[in-house]
Amino acid sequence: MFSRSSVACFISVALTVCTGVWQPLCAQDTAGSASILTPPESEIPRITGPRIFGVRPGNPFLFLVTATGMRPMKFSSDHLPGGLSLNADTGLITGALKQKGETTVTLHAQNAKGADARAFRIVCGDAIALTPPLGWNSWNSFGMSVSDAKMRATADAMIKSGLVNHGWSYINIDDGWAGARDAGGNIHGDAAFPDIKALADYIHAKGLKFGIYSSPGPRTCGQLPGSYQHEDQDAKSYAAWDVDYVKYDWCSYEEIAQKIAARKYAEQLPADGPRIVQLLAERAELQKIPKRSPEQVDEFKKINAEVGPLIYQKMNQDTRKRIDLDVAQEPYRVFRASLDKAARDIVFSLCQYGDDNVWEWGQAIGGNCWRTTGDINGTWSRMFTIGERQAGLGKFAGPGHWNDPDMLTVGKTKWYRRHDYVPLTADEQYTQVSWWCLLSAPLLIGCDLSQMDAFTYGLLSNDEVLDVDQDPLGRQAARISRNGLLEVWAKQMEDGSHVAGLFNMGSQASEVTATWQDLGINGKQIARDLWRQKDLGVFDGQFKAAIPVHGVVLVRFRPAGS
Ligand code: GAL
Repeated sequence: MFSRSSVACFISVALTVCTGVWQPLCAQDTAGSASILTPPESEIPRITGPRIFGVRPGNPFLFLVTATGMRPMKFSSDHLPGGLSLNADTGLITGALKQKGETTVTLHAQNAKGADARAFRIVCGDAIALTPPLGWNSWNSFGMSVSDAKMRATADAMIKSGLVNHGWSYINIDDGWAGARDAGGNIHGDAAFPDIKALADYIHAKGLKFGIYSSPGPRTCGQLPGSYQHEDQDAKSYAAWDVDYVKYDWCSYEEIAQKIAARKYAEQLPADGPRIVQLLAERAELQKIPKRSPEQVDEFKKINAEVGPLIYQKMNQDTRKRIDLDVAQEPYRVFRASLDKAARDIVFSLCQYGDDNVWEWGQAIGGNCWRTTGDINGTWSRMFTIGERQAGLGKFAGPGHWNDPDMLTVGKTKWYRRHDYVPLTADEQYTQVSWWCLLSAPLLIGCDLSQMDAFTYGLLSNDEVLDVDQDPLGRQAARISRNGLLEVWAKQMEDGSHVAGLFNMGSQASEVTATWQDLGINGKQIARDLWRQKDLGVFDGQFKAAIPVHGVVLVRFRPAGS
């Protein structure tokens, strides 16, 4: 699938330097079927997954050492800190660490074909999610019809397919699980989730982690009970169920937020206060109505016309902004405090669609990741728009706190606008995975894993590509050049190498160039195609590739001779 014909390599003083245009063929071959670029897995052990892991003192440690290669395989380690133990057959590390501190462990994996060893840093401190979470979320496959059985089937498929061997770990229920609260106010699963603790145990027994979803309002987006005024109780239930990840939405909190804001505005403008409170209360009622009548739309406009000048002209604007921000942050502050009472490392994922520049305060409020936009929907235009919005957000991401551009829209599912398969071409799917990895995004797979085909498996099981996402330095890529719809995004890796994605977002096959100047590198560089896991030769000054429509070439550069 790869043509070197238009690349010439010249012998220089010590190294062969290649010039010209690299010509990978499209991921969509002429017959229209998608081509798998990820090379087949070797039988020899190769340790995969994160190279660093954060845990808080005293909290349960749960980390699965993952590796590809023939089974049976034996796992072992050198210098594992006291308090932890590694299961030689499964690779599962459990226990707890008492003291804060950092240890570098050597992990080993061995089978009849060979062995691999790799350094692994364990950091016991305040931070978790030192690399972006890797897992699966139920929303895009199952929506509100998710069930215990579907979650178990997904966990089974994660293991059976072999994806687990590449570091994928979270199995997260999204909206659709919550049933009624009992007389004591405790939340329980609905009929499709008769025993959430048992489900969590099932998932954990496979070495996987378990996530859940709630909303700070009285109701979730799917109209099930939210956590409003039950925050401590819910966080306690989650901890008792051994939850590892909570996605906390915004749905139906808007009405609460407006009431709080109205009260705070009223304090600033005592004379108009009662009228502001009344108007905003009326507006909130109208907002609850999904399909407003023409009269209601007029009423809405009339309210805005009256309340707008009060809030936007009479009030000091800095004060108003401070109030708005405070109100927007409040539910996340409250739930963070509730989670802090649990003796468990629970990833806290904020899902308020990137409002109020959440990236500027998501970390301070104790979020481990925050959605930077509204929902992704499986179309090229939506994915492209969301990806582009990540430009410039890199300075807000790092180990323990990540920008979240929403789920991976790859693979087979009924959800994407009723298509059987996500309506993205093969190249567009390579683009999303490459882009999201460059962005150090949390990677949550949205497709039905029990129906995963070989192409989707290839997309999700390329360890050299996943390493870009999981790099311990935690740098989010920047868009380093843009020429119309031809873009280069790049990031530095912990080992000093640089990874660049050469993207053609346009609708004609085009050449894209990454220059050393834009990349901030010098001298001869070995270029490695990460999807094909192949060194392409030594390049100097620039790297140019022919990129298909909506496609990408993902290249890692390391100094020649290093
Ligand atoms: C949305 C959220 C989606 C999904 C949905 C569930 O607000 O952005 O990712 O969680 O709610 O109702």
